[in-house]
Amino acid sequence: MNNPHYLKAVKVTEKVYWVGAVDWNVNEFHGYRTERGSTYNAFLIMDEKITLIDAVKAPFKDHLLSRISSVVDPEKIDYIVSNHAEPDHSGCLAEIARLVKPEKIFASVAGQKALMQHYDFDMPIEAVKTGDEISLGQDTLKFIETKMLHWPDSMFSYLVNDKILFSQDAFGMHLAGSSLFADEYEHDVLHWEAEKYYANILLLYSGKIKQLLEKLPEFNLDIRYIAPDHGPIYRDPKDIGMVIDWYRNWAEQPLSNNALVVYDTMWNSTEKMAMSIADGLRDAGVEPIVIKISARDRSFVATELLNCGAIIAGSPTLNNNIFPSMADVLTYLKGLRPQNRIGAVFGSYGWSGEAIKQLEDYLRDMSVELVADSVKQKYVPKSNDLEACYQLGIKVGQELLQRLK
Ligand code: FEO
Repeated sequence: MNNPHYLKAVKVTEKVYWVGAVDWNVNEFHGYRTERGSTYNAFLIMDEKITLIDAVKAPFKDHLLSRISSVVDPEKIDYIVSNHAEPDHSGCLAEIARLVKPEKIFASVAGQKALMQHYDFDMPIEAVKTGDEISLGQDTLKFIETKMLHWPDSMFSYLVNDKILFSQDAFGMHLAGSSLFADEYEHDVLHWEAEKYYANILLLYSGKIKQLLEKLPEFNLDIRYIAPDHGPIYRDPKDIGMVIDWYRNWAEQPLSNNALVVYDTMWNSTEKMAMSIADGLRDAGVEPIVIKISARDRSFVATELLNCGAIIAGSPTLNNNIFPSMADVLTYLKGLRPQNRIGAVFGSYGWSGEAIKQLEDYLRDMSVELVADSVKQKYVPKSNDLEACYQLGIKVGQELLQRLK
């Protein structure tokens, strides 16, 4: 195949290469703000059966082919494994398969269906189940289905001798960079981006993550590398333990001594209320995290909420409704179904004030327990009006501390 390799593969082990793409410029991922870009990781196993694990987003097909070509002629690929059918990993898969003509393509049972429903493949896709193995010659690939982490088709592949867990989206993060390994990044950057990824992609499936982490020892995997489909690869045993512990903790969604105040404001009345609530929280002994949604984005809020035991939402009433920016963020959070949170609502209005009830309904739909009376303010709050907001902060703070005991 005539494919000059202007981009190079990067060695992971003696026989495994990273052949993915770095997307430095992507800043939006179905509603998730990715200000640090992302990577679409794909891996080439140079065994007797040359195997490609996953592909990349369609516009990066040439990156993938180029990096493969720096190691081997892509036409020599025997097997392709698709761990996840979402188009950021499969967008060019059908085209790659047409070019490469592999002997076999493997995916989970749901992956087989999803790939056929997304694309036109010229060849059949072989379905594999948890516990199935395929020999690559010297080494073996073992499969573990991870349904709903985070699509029905998702699965892990484990390379037995090289001890690499190809974990598709799990343990991933949206972080573009020229370094391939987690130990080459600053800890705080890794933690924030991994947490953001969990909060925005995986939070809804926390129950399944707990089950998977409990079940994982049954598979007797000796994991020396975790190679996700986004972001850096974990190779230091300390880092592997660290990211698994992060997931264990996030999946529990424990209460913490932080409270999120998220609001928007029209003529600064609701903002004044937010500031007094934050003072009340602080004086109760709880750390407030205050976000004006028009100055941030919904994925930032979802990330902060993972570390907060309470959510206090504020909105003015606009045209008999909640402010559109607040409807956006609360719709997004409702979909992610955070657990174990308490909360309250507040807002200023001119003549009707429907936003308050709508805010209450949003939080109840999120199973947030409302622990303080809502504060509804006509027009501009004066200093004596703001006392009610301060007291709301005190009340939520005290309730939170009570539950942390
Ligand atoms: Fe990175 Fe679910 O795709």
